[in-house]
Amino acid sequence: MVVGKIKTLILGAGGMLGMDLQAVFPEAISLTHAELDITDKNAVFSIIDRLRPELVINDGASKLEGERAIVNAMNRYYIVRTSWLFGLHGANLVNTMLKLGTANHVVRVVNDQFGKPTYTKDLAQKIPEILDCDYGIYHITNEGVCSWYEFASAIIPNAVPCTSKEYIRRAKRPEYSVLVNTKTRPMRHWKDALVEYMEVRKT
Ligand SMILES: NC(=O)c1ccc[n+]([C@@H]2O[C@H](COP(=O)([O-])OP(=O)(O)OC[C@H]3O[C@@H](n4cnc5c(N)ncnc54)[C@H](OP(=O)(O)O)[C@@H]3O)[C@@H](O)[C@H]2O)c1
Repeated sequence: MVVGKIKTLILGAGGMLGMDLQAVFPEAISLTHAELDITDKNAVFSIIDRLRPELVINDGASKLEGERAIVNAMNRYYIVRTSWLFGLHGANLVNTMLKLGTANHVVRVVNDQFGKPTYTKDLAQKIPEILDCDYGIYHITNEGVCSWYEFASAIIPNAVPCTSKEYIRRAKRPEYSVLVNTKTRPMRHWKDALVEYMEVRKT
């Protein structure tokens, strides 16, 4: 897909992924939460009617219910599932670890929950490729599976492993949230993406 040839609207554009999407789609119309609340049906219809975008990228936290609504309502859609995002423009585990790691002697991190860390820049750059593929659901993550502890250990030297039972959180987290990509070329390993991210955030 030639980015720029298709009239694009990005919603939730002020978030971590939204900011990287704006870099990949520089000619898109980008609306933040403050500019458009996607739960305001009339406002959404009015904007879509006025702007008539050919492609809408919705970055709001809708998850499964949102997916179901889209699948039931339309035929031409792309749903992108991802996991464990880190990027320059938002709160994420990398920044949290760097803060905790310098402030604390040791940082306890769970070693029994597994996923695939994903750099928002890589994910955003993958979207034009997906737009050349069939409509449907896509699993897009960096390659490589690790636990939160293994991820943290790649960021700070003083992470120590613990179990989920030892580290109670209000929200229950899945033990295994590894998404398998069967539809597009694999992205680079999260460790390579992390090296670049750490370099870029220094500058
Ligand atoms: N972060 C992860 O590890 C992770 C993992 C899997 C999937 N995802 C999904 O990937 C997407 C991007 O994640 P992210 O980490 O970049 O999230 P994020 O930084 O929190 O960005 C989400 C953006 O959506 C906006 N938003 C929230 N409610 C809205 C509404 N009703 N109308 C319009 N905009 C609204 C937020 O604005 P405000 O901040 O002003 O509310 C924020 O700018 C999200 O859909 C998320 O569910 C994330």
